Amino acid sequence: MTDTLSVETPALDPTALQPGDGARVRLSRLLDRDSFFELGSQRQHRANQFGLDKRRPDTDGVVAGTGAIGGRPVNVYAQDRRVLGGSLGEAHADKIARTIEQAGRGGVPVVGINDSGGARIQEGVAALDGYGQVFRANVGASGRVPQLALILGPCAGGAVYSPALMDFTVMTDESYMFLTGPRVVKAVTGEDVDARSLGGPEVHGERSGCASFVVDDDEAAFALTRDLLGYLPSSSSAPLPELVPEAPASVDLRDVVPVDGREPYDVRDVIGGIVDGGRFLEVQEHWARNLVVGFARVDGRTVGVVANQAKWLAGVLDLTASEKGARFVRFCDAFGIPLVVMVDVPGFLPGTAQENGGVIRKGAKLLHAFASATVPRVTVVLRKAFGGAYIVMNSRSLGADAVLAWPNAELAVMGAEGAADIIFRRQLDTEPHRRDEMVDSYRADAMHVDLAARRGSVDEIVAPEETRDALVAVLRSLRGARQPAFVHDNLPQ
Ligand code: HXC
Repeated sequence: MTDTLSVETPALDPTALQPGDGARVRLSRLLDRDSFFELGSQRQHRANQFGLDKRRPDTDGVVAGTGAIGGRPVNVYAQDRRVLGGSLGEAHADKIARTIEQAGRGGVPVVGINDSGGARIQEGVAALDGYGQVFRANVGASGRVPQLALILGPCAGGAVYSPALMDFTVMTDESYMFLTGPRVVKAVTGEDVDARSLGGPEVHGERSGCASFVVDDDEAAFALTRDLLGYLPSSSSAPLPELVPEAPASVDLRDVVPVDGREPYDVRDVIGGIVDGGRFLEVQEHWARNLVVGFARVDGRTVGVVANQAKWLAGVLDLTASEKGARFVRFCDAFGIPLVVMVDVPGFLPGTAQENGGVIRKGAKLLHAFASATVPRVTVVLRKAFGGAYIVMNSRSLGADAVLAWPNAELAVMGAEGAADIIFRRQLDTEPHRRDEMVDSYRADAMHVDLAARRGSVDEIVAPEETRDALVAVLRSLRGARQPAFVHDNLPQ
């Protein structure tokens, strides 16, 4: 039995379309040419209720199997919205869960294309249990193989919870994700909201943080997936991909970071001036922008970069930045990816909104992620490292393998002005005109990088232009740091 299909693509003859062909076209664009081997193409559901006995399309609305990306094996599935709305019933769920489980067993990444209205309403609890099976498979594979979700259409219900359990979610400009759609929202809460405002790419790329990447269209999502997988090992026990080392972007690092600690700059310019080819794949680029995270290569090998972004909220750490950093660090640790941490942080953002939001709890997540990470981890203090944020950002005391610092760096409990106002309070009451002098004395006696280097909180002071060579040397010396076959899973944010 064949459902009506309408896929506009020159590669297909619309009169000869089979169920799932829309999904097959997508997979063929994602995968290496002719590499796809389909499994379960004839699978059908066994439900009879609400007219389903007259609609038993082959594939049951999801095309699954195995293929290759960049010559490396990968398991894939793609839901087809034109077949029963891409909705997930018992058979559909079983196909997805098996694809994920087999990926975990075989040690290959899994990429899922989601385009689905969620649990198949006609199948009732069988559909819900199907989601339970998929979620369990996601969790079982978590931390063992990379899991990538592409959201290539309107996705609701379980179709968004499975991506949330995976490692990275890519949305396109034409996609939505919501637990419940606009009609249900209206019925339950009375709120009028359109699909884009409820779960469009702006919502998840900028405000909720649920999308790791937002791109224009399907083609861009496939290109990004290939690029991202190029940085990742196939599994937690597989080696990192290794490329020929390349020179960084030609940036004079001495000019990028202003000496005045209050002046902004884009830390991505620093990253570009240090990593191979200046290439940096930023994750969650538009969410919690005060902390930049993403993948790059140093000496031909992948590193995960975590960096305070001075041009956004002065690079302060807050609730969302802590969560963003924590999950990224956990992912890198699970997959043996060394961490390079660039620090220029004035502290944690103070205030009632942060305290009410649980900044203590969320800051602790980042602290925990760094302190427990067993991958090689190197910190570079670019300018300032103050207070709790200094500790959290992979300090020596949290177990960094090496802490490097630039010659103008300052490490202290807080900025010189704030510190002087507190410790010299009595003198300032009587001699307010001496404030500048007191600020300078605190800066010289308590903040200078030499002090931190002498006591071992900083291992070496390096010039900006020497930073890459220093990183290469330290990371090479740590190549033998053993990665257990399985470290831990990748708990959602
Ligand atoms: C069965 C479904 C379906 C579903 C869509 N369809 N969702 N069939 N079960 N969940 C069918 C429609 O009946 C229609 O079939 C076809 O798919 C296309 O749907 P449209 O509504 O015409 O498409 P569109 O306007 O693009 O809207 C897409 C949508 C909307 C926003 C996803 O379909 C929608 O809101 N669907 C219901 C979402 C939902 O509440 N799902 C259950 C979530 S609960 P025909 O035959 O007419 O072409 C869940 C449980 C897990 O998932 C929770 C985990 C925590």
